[in-house]
Amino acid sequence: MTTEARTGTARFVTIEGPDGAGKTSQAAALAEHLRGRGIETVLTREPGGTTFGERLRGVLLDRAETGGPSDPLADAFLFNAARRQLVREVIVPSLGRGATVICARFADSTLAYQGFGAGVPLATLRSLQDTATDGLMPDLTILLEVPPDVGLGRKSSDELTRFEADFDLAFHRRVRDGFLQLAADEPDRFVVVDATRDPAAVQAAIRAAVAARFTLPGEPRRPRARTPG
Ligand code: TYD
Repeated sequence: MTTEARTGTARFVTIEGPDGAGKTSQAAALAEHLRGRGIETVLTREPGGTTFGERLRGVLLDRAETGGPSDPLADAFLFNAARRQLVREVIVPSLGRGATVICARFADSTLAYQGFGAGVPLATLRSLQDTATDGLMPDLTILLEVPPDVGLGRKSSDELTRFEADFDLAFHRRVRDGFLQLAADEPDRFVVVDATRDPAAVQAAIRAAVAARFTLPGEPRRPRARTPG
């Protein structure tokens, strides 16, 4: 389903960023905020969000499961397999009934990690993405921006995913720069939020970005702001 086919209230918001940027808690706080405004909101994540996708998440992120380094294009196929299932099972049906969908990570993560980070050509990844999503794109992508050493430093060693633990700081810098490049290439879709600040300030900037982009119940239409926060 394309953006055009959705009902007026259906909105697809993704939250992206390097590891440790606070996507999970910020996505949950945004969902709670929107539900409090009476907006049906579906909160999900990648990789995962479906039974099949959560199984793939285990394979992709758990070092014990992969049993060693994996090929980045092989990773990209699996991330896109999980994505396909999530799009078909959760995202498209939710948007179809007019709900707002908030997804912690989506296809931009594959471009950033497997593309900019691990060197798979972006054209290959975009083609996989297009097949996996039927061309579905987020209406709004919030990029939580933190320097990689700050993000990684927020986690204890037993919380680290395979990507955090097995790749060096140079990889994570390429991921971060890649996200910023993607945001610069699509300024109408992305809003970059400084996530080095305290969580309440980050959440306020996210809510401002959402309110600027969409007309929420009980609010007059506001002009679009590209870089709140
Ligand atoms: P996530 O739960 O997002 O961890 P964090 O809270 O640290 O951000 O873990 C997902 C991991 O998978 C993260 O290290 C990024 C990586 N990833 C990719 O490499 N490609 C992808 O397409 C996706 C969705 C995630």
